[in-house]
Amino acid sequence: MESLKKKLEELNEKNIYPFHMPGHKRSNEAGIMAGYFDIDITEIDDYDNLHDAEGIILDAEKRANRLYGADETHFLVNGSSCGILSAISCAVSDGGTILAGRNCHRSMFNAAYLKNLSIEFLIPENRIISKDRNIMVPGIITPDFVRKAFEKNRDIEAVFVTSPTYEGFSSDVEEIARIAHENDAILIVDAAHGAHFGLDKRLPRDAVSQGADIVIHSVHKTLAAMTQTALIHVKGNRVNIDRLRRYLRIYQSSSPSYVLMASIDSAMEDIEKRGEEVFSKLLYYREKVEKLLNDTEYIKVYGIGENDDPGKLLIYSNEPGITGQMIYDILRREYGLALEMVGDGYALAIITGYDTEDGIARLIDAVKKIDDEIRSGYIDKYLDKDFEKKKIPENGEDPEGEDLGSDGKITLPKKAISLKTAWDKESEKVVLDEASGRVAGDFVNLYPPGIPLIIPGEEISNSLIFEIKRYINEGYNVQGICEGKEYMITCVKK
Ligand SMILES: Cc1ncc(COP(=O)(O)O)c(C=O)c1O
Repeated sequence: MESLKKKLEELNEKNIYPFHMPGHKRSNEAGIMAGYFDIDITEIDDYDNLHDAEGIILDAEKRANRLYGADETHFLVNGSSCGILSAISCAVSDGGTILAGRNCHRSMFNAAYLKNLSIEFLIPENRIISKDRNIMVPGIITPDFVRKAFEKNRDIEAVFVTSPTYEGFSSDVEEIARIAHENDAILIVDAAHGAHFGLDKRLPRDAVSQGADIVIHSVHKTLAAMTQTALIHVKGNRVNIDRLRRYLRIYQSSSPSYVLMASIDSAMEDIEKRGEEVFSKLLYYREKVEKLLNDTEYIKVYGIGENDDPGKLLIYSNEPGITGQMIYDILRREYGLALEMVGDGYALAIITGYDTEDGIARLIDAVKKIDDEIRSGYIDKYLDKDFEKKKIPENGEDPEGEDLGSDGKITLPKKAISLKTAWDKESEKVVLDEASGRVAGDFVNLYPPGIPLIIPGEEISNSLIFEIKRYINEGYNVQGICEGKEYMITCVKK
């Protein structure tokens, strides 16, 4: 099968002159981006149409479809975000109820806002990364939580689960699918981080083969495709496919980028041809990291048997004062290594089969050096001396003793009004210390988001204020809090 990229290159080879969009006309004098325009076209004769694919785009989608074994697969050029918006809009009626992991991506909340949905939350199990430091990340959604949610609420139309998670934990999708289907609900799996799952027998199983009705993959996150590329797959007959296609037309650009589509196809073609080699490399790199960093004392890598995704390296320290933010900053500043993100107590590196030996060796070397420096007492260079002091916010201990998320339990804020009502209402900035009892007018998230600390429509408690201040004091990037003379939070206007 001819790849989409080859077909695009033929345009130049055949000397076909463009009297059509885009305006750059593939000219090599069209500004500093000129070198990138060669295969950037719009829908023209022989080049199919993403929104009604029947030619080369359909062929490319079928290639992806064969790899994942779905009944229908669509290319997405607006990221997994537009796939999630489309999937939820298709699966849940206006004002209906969705059962969703609290740790899900912002686009689930955006869909809930647009469709005025009521959200029943599933709290993921906490996965303990370090007992000594009380470092935890959102882990899996257990089927039992899902079963109990259906016992409490018979109106749930769809279940939305993130699997694998950002940190590489996968839920028992097969069992969750069974429970959802027993209750006539559609299971949507946000597998944005798991586009490589199921593509090799040594990797964890993919959600499509485990019975999910709709699965969304970000191709750009873990495979060799450009940023913004994703796939949506449908399996079985529970999904109204015409409605899904309609929403894809609504949420995707009417001028989908052929460069992005060709890059999805190229990623699929590479896996089709060289998948075994690519994933052998990934597994080899992971093994190498674990083996060579096995005896570090202070900087640790969470083990391969402990998270499911070999591509996710959680790097943390049991040493008080060495935070995830510090690990991230040291690796970037001192060693030129840019990690994916920082969580509460750890930093996350993504590795793939497209990494280089040299890149992996640099990471191993850097972690060993930092570990050595800490061992030889050189830690002061890095240590945040105010760390322990900072851990106690000015207003003392957590006033309600709830300490959201850090005692192994997560206490969700109380819902006061719906997400849609809250987001549509006028809002105002309120001094964080004076916001207790007010209704949140926007999200507060640790970036990149794990579990939103609060969503619009929920009530701000003293415990939440305490927790937000702790994150700020520890240097985390807390989105939704403005810094000025005082910290401010967005509240619904009274
Ligand atoms: C779990 C999860 N789902 C969906 C998305 C959205 O993906 P995209 O950036 O491809 O739109 C992200 C992005 O980070 C994510 O982490």
